[in-house]
Amino acid sequence: MCGIVGAVAQRNITPILIEGLRRLEYRGYDSAGVAVLADGNGIKRVRAVGKVIELENALANSPANGHLGIAHTRWATHGKPAEHNAHPHISGKLVVVHNGIIENHAPLRKRLIDLGYQFTSETDTEVVAHLIAHYFQQNHDLLEAFRTALGELHGAYALALIHEDQPQTLYCARMGSPLVIGEGSEEHYIASDPLALLQVTDRFRYLEEGDHARLSMTRCEIWDSRNNPVDRPVKRYEHAAHSLEKGEYRHYMLKEIFEQPQAISDTLSGTLGDDHVLTAVLGPEAETRLADIANIHIVACGTSYHAGLVARYWIEEQAGIPCCVEVASEYRYRTVVVPANTLLITISQSGETADTLAALRFAKDQGYLATLAICNVAGSSLVREADWRLLTHAGPEIGVASTKAFTTQLVALLWLTTALAQVRNRDSAVIQRNVQALKTLPQVIQQSLELAPRITSLAERFANKHHALFLGRGTHYPIAMEGALKLKEISYIHAEAYAAGELKHGPLALVDEDMPVVSVAPSDSLLEKLKSNLEEVRARGGQLITFACETIEQGEPDANHEVITLPWVEDCISPIVYTIPLQLLSYHVALVKGTDVDKPRNLAKSVTVE
Ligand code: F6R
Repeated sequence: MCGIVGAVAQRNITPILIEGLRRLEYRGYDSAGVAVLADGNGIKRVRAVGKVIELENALANSPANGHLGIAHTRWATHGKPAEHNAHPHISGKLVVVHNGIIENHAPLRKRLIDLGYQFTSETDTEVVAHLIAHYFQQNHDLLEAFRTALGELHGAYALALIHEDQPQTLYCARMGSPLVIGEGSEEHYIASDPLALLQVTDRFRYLEEGDHARLSMTRCEIWDSRNNPVDRPVKRYEHAAHSLEKGEYRHYMLKEIFEQPQAISDTLSGTLGDDHVLTAVLGPEAETRLADIANIHIVACGTSYHAGLVARYWIEEQAGIPCCVEVASEYRYRTVVVPANTLLITISQSGETADTLAALRFAKDQGYLATLAICNVAGSSLVREADWRLLTHAGPEIGVASTKAFTTQLVALLWLTTALAQVRNRDSAVIQRNVQALKTLPQVIQQSLELAPRITSLAERFANKHHALFLGRGTHYPIAMEGALKLKEISYIHAEAYAAGELKHGPLALVDEDMPVVSVAPSDSLLEKLKSNLEEVRARGGQLITFACETIEQGEPDANHEVITLPWVEDCISPIVYTIPLQLLSYHVALVKGTDVDKPRNLAKSVTVE
């Protein structure tokens, strides 16, 4: 998704803007640009299609230095990836960058063309630049012109604006897309994500929906959607800048896979007693209302949705609460029946996913008991707008393919299930078992990471494959879904997951020697049934790869059946443990295929438009 960086400072801000764009690369983009108020020379704009390095090369040929500027990475929505569509966009002396989508751009464009404005791009953003310029021409007050234009925009945006005649002022606004203000010493910055600015500050103000701001080196003025002045407190960013570096690892994804023991331990920190969970973690209001929850709806996208699917098995079995799980893009547009005392849970790594956020907002009017956000980013929109929150502490996740965010979501959901079981006085043996299993989890995950060398050689088997099937049952069915999603997104191999019992209802027809079938087969109550399903695959010459428990008799080795064993673990944490080899498998297959592991084609890390 698009990324914004802006600065007004005593020093030359161009290197800071470029470094900020580099740090936003993980979000996905196809072009980049910068506009700087060059000392004594008016606005200088440089844009390039491709990576930030292309923009740097363009700047090397045509340097731009100054104390006020805005920069952008663009992910094409309106208009193809091309230099003339790259941001910033200019109208006269005024320059704009934008993240999000202006839904009413077409009528606004028509109106502005009728007024004589000439467009040089197909973007919705250029409409914003001309609209502000139009009002500024009328009233000569840039803040008022900005406000009037904002009032006419429908859709989602984070916007930044500078004007050639105001060399010390940076304007910005947010509605539906994230934007933070970074506080320096006699300097101010803005960015779509604090990560972009950690090289210059760790102190941030998080704009609320509808806020707009005017920044100079020394002043930060913020107004809400009704133009009332507001104070958004400065918060210190908790993750050290070095957590953003790859260190000894070849890719962020690999680093993040190996960070999982620590991420899980950080997520559990302070949440477990001797034999019970500490429900106070949820905050006083949530804690007192936990016992009232009679139903649960879970809404999320992608990998986070898969975490929700696992949780449904846990919540219904262990807490005895009916639970439905749905992708946010469907949920937000349908009629939802909400039984009395239903809790809505949204799950998101970023807390900025447009569909999940819209689902939360939609849910506010549907009569839920409360809304709970399970999220990895404390200052995100989702966390700020939900009634209750449960944070995962995976640390920044840079690789587009979600890994440590997923396993920490599962940890948070198992913790929540245990909390619900506890307040409902369910079987205390189950609660104690969950607590003990969670405590051992970081160490167990560490052991499963030792499978990496074995999986490296296994990955070669996928070198010439175009399709793969993933099978699982019970809580491991969503894990098979997650395994298939990981494989397809980073290796571009078409992969599908099925509940193993569905095999003979259709997908078995696909099985032959060209179809690797990956199965997740821990030692649980469904193992014997799963084994029968796998026999159906073997009988048809399928290439089976099974992740199984070391305590189970595996039979004679077979060229068509590779078995990788994992240590025995309690059922409740097994889906989390079996995720690890599937992540490693997709990573190593992507290496064999030579794809861009951390930034797979067509994908963005943070999907802030629907
Ligand atoms: C897949 C992946 C995506 C995200 C999805 C939701 O590896 O990362 O499917 O899970 O875009 O993102 P969040 O969790 O930030 O809401």
